[in-house]
Amino acid sequence: MTGRIVVSRRIPEVGMSLLAAQPGVEVEVLEDAQDRGPARSRLLDAVATADVLLCLLTEAVDRELLSAGRRLRGVSQMAVGVDNVDMAAATELGIPVGHTPGVLTETTADLAWALLLATARRIPQAHRYQVEGRYRIWGPELFTGADVGSGGSGRRKVLGIVGFGRIGQAVARRSVGFDMEVLAHDPRNRDRVEAVLGVRWAPLDHLLSEADFVSLHTPLTPETHHLLGEEELRTMKSTAILVNTARGPVVDEAALVRALREGWIAGAGLDVYEDEPRMAPGLVDLPNVVLLPHVGSASIDTRDRMATMAAHNAVAFLQGERAPHTVDPGVYDTPAYRERTGG
Ligand code: GLV
Repeated sequence: MTGRIVVSRRIPEVGMSLLAAQPGVEVEVLEDAQDRGPARSRLLDAVATADVLLCLLTEAVDRELLSAGRRLRGVSQMAVGVDNVDMAAATELGIPVGHTPGVLTETTADLAWALLLATARRIPQAHRYQVEGRYRIWGPELFTGADVGSGGSGRRKVLGIVGFGRIGQAVARRSVGFDMEVLAHDPRNRDRVEAVLGVRWAPLDHLLSEADFVSLHTPLTPETHHLLGEEELRTMKSTAILVNTARGPVVDEAALVRALREGWIAGAGLDVYEDEPRMAPGLVDLPNVVLLPHVGSASIDTRDRMATMAAHNAVAFLQGERAPHTVDPGVYDTPAYRERTGG
């Protein structure tokens, strides 16, 4: 096997070693640092002579880039979400796109819960207070927050899950220990919702008006862009907390800032932003937010598994084979793919 794999940004060593172990394969890493990506011009140049592009969600894999990859036999992305990839262009050009579903489900569900609890109980705010040496005496109202379980009020809290794919279901499973009532909304997965014990399907407006906690787990598509805008945020309870570990543009972030500032809702725990890594003006100054830098799947083991999966997808593409995890497997049956791979 010969060929050239361009890796836009260095992935964990286990994935790099897998690529390096392929005899006759040239691997070029465009950016080694963790805190920046390659210049667009460098990416465009490199992709022109690449057989496979292995990339991250930070790269815009648009029509221009895909078209520049005249030899490309596949794009392997180390992420499950591929909203940064122009999938219609990829399919039209006969370029299969690989991704990493399944392996990050539990880790991302853990983070959604960590954000939910941290926001409800104001953990980062209390931590800052403690490390700044401001704790002088125990106080009855010091950092009081919201119950997640039925502890304080005796009332079962309602968790609303929007998007009931793998991660949404994993979030639902974790609610059992908190004895919550769980509502889920997902137009594509109504049967799955009803198959999970104790979870009830609900229309979005009903879910939003009933939930004490709303956690988002939809992919970003034209249908889910700004799924939560001003109207939806105003539908939520003024005591509710919103958690977003899905994709930023699912929420109208400017409207969310107003919602948090004006008390339409009580708080938000966010791992993703509408125009990442930038945040909407005012978000960072709010006292009722917990903000993370898109670390949903960031456990050491999970990132290793994602890197392994992305490397396997890349090697399969190089060999002209179907990748183990292709976003749009229909591409393999297109004349454009056959022409590209000489099949
Ligand atoms: C992370 O956001 C991913 O899509 O894998």
